[in-house]
Amino acid sequence: MYLKAALFMALGIAFAAADEIHLVNCQNTSPRLPRDEYTVMVYYASSRDLNGPPPSNNICFPVSSGTVQWERSGGVSCTFPMGITFRETLNANAPSAPNFSAVGSGSNGFNSYTCYKDNGHQLYVDNDAKVCFSSYYCLSN
Ligand SMILES: *[C@@H]1O[C@H](CO)[C@@H](O)[C@H](O)[C@H]1NC(C)=O
Repeated sequence: MYLKAALFMALGIAFAAADEIHLVNCQNTSPRLPRDEYTVMVYYASSRDLNGPPPSNNICFPVSSGTVQWERSGGVSCTFPMGITFRETLNANAPSAPNFSAVGSGSNGFNSYTCYKDNGHQLYVDNDAKVCFSSYYCLSN
């Protein structure tokens, strides 16, 4: 009981420090390969560690293969390996919103977030050499 509470608090604190969740689309960029696109949520404890493939504890696949539409009605939720569930809800018109404008909200059960349209910049290259682009990012309020 005590251990469970301590673990829960540790996760809560870890995720509270987490001020950045990216909603990411990864794909092969070579025209000789199928796109083979997939979507992933990536959690960063701070924007300082925005380089290289993220550790597996920091990534979450909302669907087991292929892509989820980040802007779908009802939002998208995903449970990270450490047990924290992040849910985002984006406006239907988010894809055409200006870069860096607020397009929705999110929650991890502890903190609320505001989600912004990203400019599609490359975040990292995954272990299969797919290039991962940031579609949206959510910052804790
Ligand atoms: C966002 O930025 C990207 C990269 O610079 C650009 O290609 C795109 O047109 C921009 N989108 C909007 C809606 O301004």
